[in-house]
Amino acid sequence: TFVVTSNCQRCRFTDCVAVCPVECFHGDKEMLYIDPDECIDCGACVPECPVEAIYDETEVPPEQIEWIEINAARASELPVVAETETPLPTAEERRKQLGFG
Ligand code: SF4
Ligand code: F3S
Repeated sequence: TFVVTSNCQRCRFTDCVAVCPVECFHGDKEMLYIDPDECIDCGACVPECPVEAIYDETEVPPEQIEWIEINAARASELPVVAETETPLPTAEERRKQLGFG
C-alpha cells in the first residue's frame, strides 16, 4: 500500500485524489490518509504530489514510519476525499519551506 506522510500537513494540495482509481484517500482538515485496504498499489498518486508526501510503504523513510499506522487508523474513521479541493492557505509557504520551489 501507499502512505501519506508529514509533508502533506499544512499543504493538502489534493492533486493526488484526482488520479486515484479507487477513491482510497480520506481526509481531515490537516491532511489526507490512504486506506491500506482499498489502495491497489498503482503508484499513480506519487508523482502528483507537489511536496512528495506519498511513499510506497516499503520505502517510507525511517523518521516517517509512524505514518503507516496513522494512515490506516485515520482513513478508517474519516470521509473519502475524491475530488480536488483548494489547498490550505499555508500550502505555498510550506512547499517553499520543504524545498519544492
Ligand atoms: Fe490510489 Fe494508486 Fe495512490 Fe493507492 S497508489 S492511493 S490506489 S493512486
Ligand atoms: Fe497531500 Fe500531496 Fe495529496 S500534499 S493532499 S499528499 S497531493
